[in-house]
Amino acid sequence: MELIHRPRRLRGTATLRQMVRETRVNKSSLVYPMFVIEGDNRKEEIPSMPGQYRYSVDCMEEKLIELCRAGVPAVMFFGIPSQKDALGTSAYLEDGIVQRAFRKAKEVCPELYLIGDVCMCEYTSHGHCGILCGQEIDNDNTLGLLAKTALSQVQAGADMVAPSDMMDGRVAAIRRVLDHNGYINTPIMSYAVKFASSFYGPFRDAANSAPAFGDRKSYQMDYHNRREAIKEAMLDVQEGADIIMVKPAMAYGDLIREVKDHTDLPVASYSVSGEYAMVKAAAQAGLVDESSIICEMAVSAYRAGTDIYITYFAEELANYMDQGRIG
Ligand code: PBG
Repeated sequence: MELIHRPRRLRGTATLRQMVRETRVNKSSLVYPMFVIEGDNRKEEIPSMPGQYRYSVDCMEEKLIELCRAGVPAVMFFGIPSQKDALGTSAYLEDGIVQRAFRKAKEVCPELYLIGDVCMCEYTSHGHCGILCGQEIDNDNTLGLLAKTALSQVQAGADMVAPSDMMDGRVAAIRRVLDHNGYINTPIMSYAVKFASSFYGPFRDAANSAPAFGDRKSYQMDYHNRREAIKEAMLDVQEGADIIMVKPAMAYGDLIREVKDHTDLPVASYSVSGEYAMVKAAAQAGLVDESSIICEMAVSAYRAGTDIYITYFAEELANYMDQGRIG
């Protein structure tokens, strides 16, 4: 048979396949999300996320060192306070849970890069990402509190802040306050393209942050929309974001690509709790091979344009990269 093109020629051996590989991955792009709780001597497995834990500040060290050894360069902290109130006061206390976690992490693992998730929902009694005015989420009055939260995290040792609340104007508000306090070089990674997603279900169990009434659809995006994703990304670029995030990752590869093509900023994607829980459940039921699925999901995010991949599988992926399973 005379065939001019035989794509199979380039698939004949592992060496050749690797040589022509289009997507290359690297451990330096990984971020591990970690939950911190009040109290002492606590390491509690999160029921909705088997293999993931909530750590009290005194129990974080072992995990942080393990991450460093595996070559995961960065962690993102989520604080779970014991006291929640309508204004999310514990989000911006000097001695708040996440602030203490930053101080401890800097002390025990100075080489780790520390990122703070900035949002109100883990800290408010009503579980919404902003403060309320009646039953409405009050955009403009939330901005000052978010900026205060970001500043207190940076003062405690956060190297970067990542606002995930989806209030309009928060990147500009945070940038202004950081700059006025001398933190002109602290980057903002904006959860710019964040959808109202059922994939966050297990996280809300982990952080005890499900909204007490209603849902998040008045501030998080409608997942039918693509052009709006570009609008959100470009607004945050104008407000001074340094990195743009798309979240979730797995079902949103098209939007990772859109954002990548429309901005010249680094693009992050967040493989969220529901993605993790689904992989774990299917693997435990013997339906899929866990490590192969983790690799395939990660590469799909990178192929879509991800520069920074935030995932609960960060340590596993670092090991798979070392083993050459993906590369
Ligand atoms: C806080 C926040 C959420 C997640 C990250 N930051 C929850 C939400 O918006 O409901 C979800 C992360 C995950 O599901 O892994 N707003």
